[in-house]
Formats: sequence, structure tokens, C-alpha cells
Amino acid sequence: MARIGFIGTGEIAAAMVRGLAGQGHEILVSERNADMAARLATEVAGVRIASNEEVVAGSDTVFLCLLARVAETVLPGLRFREDQAVISVMVDVALARLKALCAPATEISITIPLPPIATGGCPLPVYPASPALEALYGARNMVFAVRDETALNAHFGATALCSPLLEQMLTTATWLAGFTGDADRAEKYVSAVIRGYLPERPEGGMLAEALRNLSTEGGLNATLRTAMAPANADLRSGLDGFRARLGLDRGEA
Ligand SMILES: NC(=O)c1ccc[n+]([C@@H]2O[C@H](COP(=O)([O-])OP(=O)(O)OC[C@H]3O[C@@H](n4cnc5c(N)ncnc54)[C@H](OP(=O)(O)O)[C@@H]3O)[C@@H](O)[C@H]2O)c1
Repeated sequence: MARIGFIGTGEIAAAMVRGLAGQGHEILVSERNADMAARLATEVAGVRIASNEEVVAGSDTVFLCLLARVAETVLPGLRFREDQAVISVMVDVALARLKALCAPATEISITIPLPPIATGGCPLPVYPASPALEALYGARNMVFAVRDETALNAHFGATALCSPLLEQMLTTATWLAGFTGDADRAEKYVSAVIRGYLPERPEGGMLAEALRNLSTEGGLNATLRTAMAPANADLRSGLDGFRARLGLDRGEA
């Protein structure tokens, strides 16, 4: 059993709390957002609602799940302790800044949870390595330490692929429904087709192999891929657009 706190009870904190359900932990969630905090307290055994100050005081591991600009105003007023682990999930707050905001705590890491952490199977890159994160989420998720902060931040950039990819799937489903008249079925169909190419336990080389298998000359897949080649260049340039914001210019491309 661990004592775990969440500062900022929004979308990602809720998924993380749900991912800890049933393990006997004492979980403190901050009172904002009030609706979400109330829902979690009802839904997950061991969850209590508290002020930000009480969350920090009553936790051995504190997750920071605020927006960056809010963190700058909230964290300086909280009394972190040297003996507690602090794990931030916030994009745009560098490790050096977290060390200043959460002093005297020194066991500070940054990770990138995604909503599927609620049920497990979520990749969790982390920097620096965090025994606390591994202990809490390692059994059900894929926790892996990366070599430096630049590498970690590049993972934040890569997560942004989700929304353009989902938009392309929705566009395809809408196009399909124009012919079938069944929008619900079209969305399920497109989702199932894509899911079919994504095995439960992905391995390196899997994407290139799947692409090779979909490369029959003159086939529908290869034809559409050629038509969409400019979008691929746009994707690369959009990712590169994150360089300054995510501090990637110090690392490799
Ligand atoms: N969503 C994701 O999939 C995801 C994934 C990885 C990382 N992140 C990072 O996680 C952080 C939170 O994202 P999110 O999507 O969960 O945002 P969110 O739903 O807006 O959650 C942020 C929460 O902070 C609360 N808050 C505002 N002021 C506060 C205060 N003074 N004290 C305590 N809590 C306060 C807000 O409450 P009110 O609603 O009452 O204002 C809100 O519920 C961001 O830095 C984001 O980059 C998100």
C-alpha cells in the first residue's frame, strides 16, 4: 500500500487514479476539478478529496497534473518534503524548473501518461528513472527510462500524432458512411481495420514490415499512400515545429 497524491484532478489525473484502482492504495486528489474529484472518490476505493496542501503533506509520491501556467502559481505555495517522490506529467515544465518549484524534494521525474493508463498497457517513458513510478504502474504498463530530458520531450512531441491520425480515421469513416449510410458501423469498421495492424505487444520493425506488406504496386494501399505523400512531409515538418517549444535542438534529430 502506498500514499499517493494528485495535484490537479483533470483528465489525465483521473485516468491515472483509475489505473491504480483495486490495489489498496491511499489516494489523495486535490479538490479541483470538484466534479472529477467527487466522481473519483465515489468510483475508486481509497480516494479522498483534499486541499493541495493536504495532498502534499499526506503523500509519499505526488503526481503533478496541472497545466504549466497553473503550476507556476500553485507549486510555490506548497511544502514539498525531501523524503517524497514527485512525478510531473506536465508538458512545458523543464526538470530544472521543477527542482526549483518542488524544493527540497530531489527525487523528481517527468513521465508521459496517456488516457489508456486507466486500464493498463500504457507506454510510460520517464526521465530520470523513477522507482516510485515503476512500483506504482510498472506491473500493468510499460515503464522505461530514457537517456536524457531531450529524449523524453521528443516523446511528448510524438504523442501529438494521435489527433491527426484520429482525424484521418474519422475522415475515412465519414467517407465510407457516405456510401453505406451507416456512420456507426463505418467508424467501428475503420477502427477495427487499424487496430488489426497494431499487435498487443509492439516490436521494433513491426511498422516497416506492415508497410511492406501493404505495398503491392497498383494496390489501393500503395495508391493512397502515394497520393498522400505530401502529408507525410507535413507531418515531419509539424513535428520539427516542436523543436524550440520542447527544447529538442540540444539533441539529435
Ligand atoms: N490529457 C492528456 O492526455 C495528457 C497526457 C500527458 C500529459 N498531460 C499533461 O497533464 C497536464 C494536465 O492535463 P489535463 O489534460 O489533465 O488537463 P485538465 O483536464 O485541464 O486538468 C488540469 C486540472 O488542474 C486543475 N486546477 C486548476 N487550478 C488548480 C489549482 N489551483 N489547484 C489544483 N488544481 C487546479 C483544473 O481544475 P478546474 O477544471 O477546476 O480548473 C483541471 O482539472 C498538462 O500539463 C498536460 O500537458 C496530459
